[in-house]
Amino acid sequence: MTAQAAHDQQEQQNKQSQQNQQESPAGRPAGTPPSLYGGKSSRRVTVHDLAAAKERGERWPMLTAYDAMTASVFDEAGIPVMLVGDSMGNVHLGYETTVPVTLDEMTMLSAAVVRGTKRALVVADLPFGSYQEGPVQALRSATRLVKDAGVGAVKLEGGERSHGQIELLVQAGIPVMGHIGLTPQSVNTLGYRVQGRGEEAAQQMLRDAKAVQDAGAFAVVLELVPAELAAEVTRILHIPTIGIGAGIETDAQVLVYTDMVGLTGGKVPRFTKQYTNLRQTLGDAAKAFADEVVAGTFPQEEHTFH
Ligand code: KIV
Repeated sequence: MTAQAAHDQQEQQNKQSQQNQQESPAGRPAGTPPSLYGGKSSRRVTVHDLAAAKERGERWPMLTAYDAMTASVFDEAGIPVMLVGDSMGNVHLGYETTVPVTLDEMTMLSAAVVRGTKRALVVADLPFGSYQEGPVQALRSATRLVKDAGVGAVKLEGGERSHGQIELLVQAGIPVMGHIGLTPQSVNTLGYRVQGRGEEAAQQMLRDAKAVQDAGAFAVVLELVPAELAAEVTRILHIPTIGIGAGIETDAQVLVYTDMVGLTGGKVPRFTKQYTNLRQTLGDAAKAFADEVVAGTFPQEEHTFH
């Protein structure tokens, strides 16, 4: 190789490295392939990053968040997509189901999560009653979440039945994440059980998945779906699938964060994994503080002003 050719080749490699670094939302060192999870932020993750991750076969994590502080912890941990789920109804607002959650509640907490993040794509759920009337109602509700809360995308439940809503939002420039399988807003008709079992139900799930994709959604959550069916949906769709209780073969996985950190009281679904026990830690800290107050050993000199 001539000196000039070697120089040109080096230039080309440098350019490619720079491009990789610019393209990587994780801001990883030059030469590292773009990655969704981890690293420092240089810009927000976009739906195009998720599409590219599916193409290169990269799996990614999504977590729910409902407040600025928790969202900032997950953002710093490199979680690329944060869902302001209407699970906030059960775990954050003390309702029995997600059904009572309002658009006002969703807007306020979504705005907090946006303020707490620099890098994550923030997706907000459209709550029950804010899109079922039809596409125009869905557009009005989603517009509020995008304009007032500043989210980058919205999520809504339903496959074929929500095709029109998804289509209009996407035409209006609002990225939409679908949600099929167990759709908790329909708990009063579906209950909390695995969906898509049996030939007919499986065929309906495939039709729902395609309807969501055809309407223009950028990703779809598969909740409580047999692993084999979720794998088939993942193979068939060109948009990423995000599993919760849907086995290992989806493109991404999501957990409700309070389940994941052991904050949720009572029984949690079998598909969640508890990575730490914050309920115990918080309870122990509260008791230690209370014991010291009662014993008169807090505050001490270092906590006191004169
Ligand atoms: O509301 C929520 O947290 C959700 C996830 C379970 C996907 O929809």
